[in-house]
Amino acid sequence: MPLKLAIIAGDGTGPEVVDQALAVLDAVAKADNFDYTTTAFDFGGRRHLDTGKVLDDDDIAALKPFDAILLGAVGHPEVKPGVLEKGLLLKLRFDLDQYINLRPVKLYAGIDTPLKDKTPDDIDFIVVRENTEDLYCGSGGVSRKNTPQEIATQEMIATRFGVERCIRYAFELAVDRKASGYPGRLTLVHKTNVLTYAGDTWFRAFEQIGEADYPQIERQYHHVDACCMYMVTSPEAYDTIVVPNMFGDIITDLGAAIAGGMGIAASGNLHPDPDSPNPSMFEPVHGSSPDIAGQNKANPLAAIDTLAMLLRETGKVKKDQALIAAGDRVAKAVQSVTPNFTGKRLDRSGYSTSDIGKMVIDAL
Ligand code: NAD
Ligand code: IPM
Ligand code: MN
Repeated sequence: MPLKLAIIAGDGTGPEVVDQALAVLDAVAKADNFDYTTTAFDFGGRRHLDTGKVLDDDDIAALKPFDAILLGAVGHPEVKPGVLEKGLLLKLRFDLDQYINLRPVKLYAGIDTPLKDKTPDDIDFIVVRENTEDLYCGSGGVSRKNTPQEIATQEMIATRFGVERCIRYAFELAVDRKASGYPGRLTLVHKTNVLTYAGDTWFRAFEQIGEADYPQIERQYHHVDACCMYMVTSPEAYDTIVVPNMFGDIITDLGAAIAGGMGIAASGNLHPDPDSPNPSMFEPVHGSSPDIAGQNKANPLAAIDTLAMLLRETGKVKKDQALIAAGDRVAKAVQSVTPNFTGKRLDRSGYSTSDIGKMVIDAL
C-alpha cells in the first residue's frame, strides 16, 4: 500500500518549505523504492479570507483516512491572531487527538549555537510536550467585560488520563533512546512549587509510573524557570523531557534557539498508538514568516527534517521498516549538509530555499 499523505502547505513561507520537503520525498521514495500519494488541502489564511471558512468537521473527516499530514505553517497578516491558530492548528491537534508534541533539540555540526563553548555533544535532547490539555483547552471566560471589574480566567487542565498517557510515552521514548546510547534519564518539567494541584497530578503520576514500570530510567524533576536556566547553562543535563502543553511551547522555542534557530527546528503532533484511528501531523516549529515570504529565503531544513520525522514515526505506527529507513536517510542527509553553510542565517549564507533543498537531495 502506498504511503498516503495529506499536505497542508498553508500560508507565507509554508508552501515554499513544503515544496522542498516534497522534492526530497520524491527523491528518497525513488531511491528506496516505496510508493506514496499526496493530496493537497488549501486550509489556511487564504481560504479563510476568500470563503470565511477556518476548519469544519468535514475537513477533519477528510483528513482521517490519511497515513500522515505534512503541514507547512498557517498564519496570515490579514487574519486576526487566534483565528487560525485556535480554529485550525489547535482544532487539528485536538480533534485528531494528537496527544504528543515531539520536539527534538539537537545541535547539528556546522550550525551555530548562541551558547558559548557548547557543542553538538552538549545539545542533544528531546521534548515530549503534552498536546491536548493544560491552558490550551480554552476553558475559562470573561465577564463584566469592558468594565473596571472585568474578570478573565483561563484554566490549566490536567486529567490523570491525559497526563498518564503522555508520561508513559515519554518513559518508553527514554527506554528506546537508552538502547541507542543516551543516558536513560527522563526529566519532568513543571512548576509544582506554585501549581500545587495540576503540578501534583503530574508529579505523582511521574513518580508512580516511573517506580512501577521504568526503574531503569533515572527520574529528574526541574521547575520550568530553572529548566530555562539549565537549557542555557547546561543543556547536557537533558536527555528526554516531559512537560505540559504551555510550558512545552515556551521551552521548545528556547530549544530551537539554542540548536540554531527556527530554520532547523522540526516537530510532530503524534497519535502514536499502533492501532491509531487518526493520522499524526508533522510541522516545522516555525510559523508562516510573513517578513520573508515569497523571497526564496526561508530555510527548508526544518520542513525537511520534519519529513524525516514523518517517515520514521509513520513507519513505526505502520510497522514499515522501509519508511523508517527512508526517514533515517533523510535525517542523515540534513545533518550532512549543515557544515556546508556553517549555520549562518540563510539570508547571509548566499544560499536560497531551493539551493538547500537541492543540497539535501544531492546528499541523499
Ligand atoms: P515565525 O516563526 O513565522 O517567524 C519568526 C522569525 O523567524 C521571523 O523573523 C522569520 O523570518 C524567522 N524564520 C522563521 N522560520 C524561518 C525559516 N524557515 N528560515 C529562516 N527564517 C525563519 O513566527 P511569527 O513571526 O511569530 O509568526 C508568524 C505567523 O505564523 C503568525 O500568524 C503566527 O501565529 C503563525 N505561527 C504558525 C505556526 C504554525 O503554523 N505551526 C507556528 C508559529 C507561528
Ligand atoms: C507552536 C505554536 C502554536 C502553539 C500556536 C501557533 C498555536 O506556537 O506550534 O509552538 O502554541 O502550540
Ligand atoms: Mn510555539
